[in-house]
Amino acid sequence: MRLDKCLTENLAVSRKDAGKLIKQGKVCVNGIVVKDSAYKVALNDELTFMDEKLHIKEEDYKAYYMLNKPKGYVCASDDSLNPYVIALFKDEYKARELFCVGRLDIDTTGLLLVTNDGLWSHKITSPKHHVSKVYRAFLADPCPIDAIDTFKEGIVLKGESSKTKSAKLTIINQHEVLLEITEGKYHQVKRMFAAIGNKVEKLERLTIGGVSLDKELKPGEFRKLTQEELKLLGVGG
Ligand code: URA
Repeated sequence: MRLDKCLTENLAVSRKDAGKLIKQGKVCVNGIVVKDSAYKVALNDELTFMDEKLHIKEEDYKAYYMLNKPKGYVCASDDSLNPYVIALFKDEYKARELFCVGRLDIDTTGLLLVTNDGLWSHKITSPKHHVSKVYRAFLADPCPIDAIDTFKEGIVLKGESSKTKSAKLTIINQHEVLLEITEGKYHQVKRMFAAIGNKVEKLERLTIGGVSLDKELKPGEFRKLTQEELKLLGVGG
């Protein structure tokens, strides 16, 4: 959020007057005078006006986006070799301390939610809440019809002892399928097909909890989630 907007909300002054007060050097961020009205305040910054502490409303900082994740980007900030998807958001957005809701593999494309709301992110990714995700997968070998029942009943993935939750497989053609799952195990879709002796060659996420990837978004583009989409994902009335 801009510094002048913060001031208008705290002191009930106009944006113009807030700008004047800032220029006069009366506002500090973390103990340092800031004279730029457009300065982007971060959630944990300490703001003072003439030594009086100002409050930043947490709701003002909640940010919810959908991104069409391109290939070659990672969802973890600790990878020093590959670009982090959050780098696609300009500085303005970076100041809001954004992170990815769950992870997609480096070679997976499609719908990725990005936020700074940790509780919301947890609700979407926690297996307890059964939020469904639909993936389109392109397979190396033809998909057998009986995979529909196998995935519906659940399948034991390599290195695990219990079955996956019931998943819905739709066969578009021999090499193209849609898979709806309600969990988010590590490399889950690729491992499910590996468990039936097939290989995912290309993977794209199409939906999360009833929200579909906006077809207008080119790879690397993002937009704010609409009120309707937020409702579908459990935010707002
Ligand atoms: N399943 C996978 O195997 N990879 C992803 O990126 C997402 C789901």
